[in-house]
Amino acid sequence: MRRLAEADPDVAKVLRAEAQRQHRNLELIASENFVSEAVLEAVGSVLTNKYAEGYPGRRYYGGCEVVDVVEELAIARAKELFGAQHVNVQPHSGAQANMAVYFTVLKPGDVVLGPNLAHGGHLTAGSPVNYSGKLYSIVAYGVRRDTERIDLDEVRALARTHRPRLIIAGGSAFPRAIDFAPFGEIAREVGAVLMADIAHPAGLVAAGLHPSPVGIADFVTTTTHKTLRGPRGGMVMCGAAHAPALDKTVMPGVQGGPLMHVIAGKAVAFREALTPEWRAYQGQIVKNARALADALLGRGLRLVSGGTDTHLILVDLTGRGITGKDAQEALDRAWITVNKNTIPFETKSPMVTSGIRLGTPAVTTRGMREPEMAEIAALIDRVLSDLGSASVEAKVRDEVQALTNRFPLYPERTR
Ligand SMILES: Cc1ncc(COP(=O)(O)O)c(C=O)c1O
Repeated sequence: MRRLAEADPDVAKVLRAEAQRQHRNLELIASENFVSEAVLEAVGSVLTNKYAEGYPGRRYYGGCEVVDVVEELAIARAKELFGAQHVNVQPHSGAQANMAVYFTVLKPGDVVLGPNLAHGGHLTAGSPVNYSGKLYSIVAYGVRRDTERIDLDEVRALARTHRPRLIIAGGSAFPRAIDFAPFGEIAREVGAVLMADIAHPAGLVAAGLHPSPVGIADFVTTTTHKTLRGPRGGMVMCGAAHAPALDKTVMPGVQGGPLMHVIAGKAVAFREALTPEWRAYQGQIVKNARALADALLGRGLRLVSGGTDTHLILVDLTGRGITGKDAQEALDRAWITVNKNTIPFETKSPMVTSGIRLGTPAVTTRGMREPEMAEIAALIDRVLSDLGSASVEAKVRDEVQALTNRFPLYPERTR
């Protein structure tokens, strides 16, 4: 920090302030996590200087013999972690991982069957404002009204009617585990390619706590920064038969030079993920999510699908008469960080919403366990029960700070 502080005090101040915010707040955004110091060191390394278009052993530039080693390590570790035949670790993000698969198997105008955005699907599964919605003909499936779980009968019926070229399984706000086997059967029946997007549960999948799509889906995409707890980035896995086409699509199809410093961070994170401690961490994420869900239910809040199997909880605030937007803003003022989220059969706009999404990966990284989840549920309930009360928010802020101080984060970066 000292060298940066001298060279650019303005940016150094931002980095310290953000480290302090991350330490001070209760981070409950389901898609965020805190990487290790080792991952931070790799991402902030001299590997950012190196251009390495191409793949290990066949690059367009000279001087790649050193970075080749780190990409090989990332690939080998990812293969071991997920049991995948082929892995491409170059996608800069989850959105680009998905784009790589679309561009590998689709042409503009092709039919894609994917999850409804308001029911938990991600932007890249066909939102009209995203490339996926602009380039392809999207058919959306949702969850059942009664169970709020994916309606496989609807998926099958839509697949038979629309004969999609690609079916997508996975999303950003499904609290329940996704069983990929029936998706595989439906895709085979209609001759579609199956892509599983495990950006959210990837860590649970790697630890054997969530069904794995590897060996069922033709392509598996993920981010590396959510439950997986690596640097911000993406990755695609597939069978050997699809490997040459996929690699060609990633580079030169949709990307230029890979971010070698981020690939080094992925390699470090995957090594961490191959340890028993990391598997125990994933187990604790799930236990914490269940404990948080139970405590919220105990306080009378309604959860979409009635609970969770994963790291993620979707709270329906309709019964409390408040919007996701107002809840997010009030919790923010109390230093509890969440995001507003649409719920299935949503009646409000995505900028307002009827729900909030909560996740336990980040607080679990800090070492919090079931007793702290009960404390967090109580703090959330107090803010939501007295929405907009400055005195309640101030009291909760003090308690949040007392709680987070018990679980220090990046101590040397907050000074
Ligand atoms: C299911 C899913 N796919 C893809 C993405 C896109 O990832 P990124 O933000 O890295 O582009 C996300 C991000 O939230 C996601 O939840």
